[in-house]
Amino acid sequence: MWIYKVKDYQEMSRRAAALLSAQIIAKPDSILGLATGSTPVGTYEYLVSWYQAGVLDFSEVRVVNLDEYRGISRDDEQSYYYFMKKHLFDHVNIRPENTHIPDGCGSYAEAVTQAYETLIRLLGGADLQLLGIGRNGHIGFNEPGDSFTETCHCVALAKSTIEANKRFFTREEDVPREAYTMGIGTIMRAKKIVLLASGEDKAEALRGALEGPITSWLPASVLRLHHDVTVVADEAALSLVNG
Ligand code: GLP
Repeated sequence: MWIYKVKDYQEMSRRAAALLSAQIIAKPDSILGLATGSTPVGTYEYLVSWYQAGVLDFSEVRVVNLDEYRGISRDDEQSYYYFMKKHLFDHVNIRPENTHIPDGCGSYAEAVTQAYETLIRLLGGADLQLLGIGRNGHIGFNEPGDSFTETCHCVALAKSTIEANKRFFTREEDVPREAYTMGIGTIMRAKKIVLLASGEDKAEALRGALEGPITSWLPASVLRLHHDVTVVADEAALSLVNG
């Protein structure tokens, strides 16, 4: 595991975008596993600006996103599909048919998750998986206590996750209670993983992930068992980490 300690959010974003760019340049048809949330927004801004400057070409890139709320349609502004279009897909030359996110409105949860897991396997798995971290240590929407071997599945969101994500919604009641997510197993099959963290409110989770016991009660701790993980985190997020 490599840990890059950077000054602030801006530097984290630039460093993460550089890692993603290196992946795209080395392998133009890379499968990128992408994430949502406020953490990667700056990373996507850098990617868009480097695309506009002619440095990057997304024409062969394929994307498999980590997760999606259940019961929310793609054109809903709260959907992760909408988020990805707004922050990345609409601004680069990625082909819409090469962008994949679980179907939040699929009728049967089991059918949605099996189809998504199959698709990821058919594509050969992510070459690089980008991750944020929840305040309770979740990755994707794998909440504490979820099995380490899980494939894509439907989860009931933890109270703390609903609380943390309500800032994106008008009312707390509007936050979906369930979501589809790649499982820990799906994430661990990625060839490379880049974990981002910024801000003091991630310090406790990051300390647990990097220095605490490897346990499903802190899902991000499993990343220490992966052979190629890069953590890019700012000083505030790393403030409780000793090493
Ligand atoms: C959500 C997402 C995660 C993300 C986490 C942290 O629950 N499903 O993929 O990493 O929130 O979000 P943020 O980056 O906004 O702190």
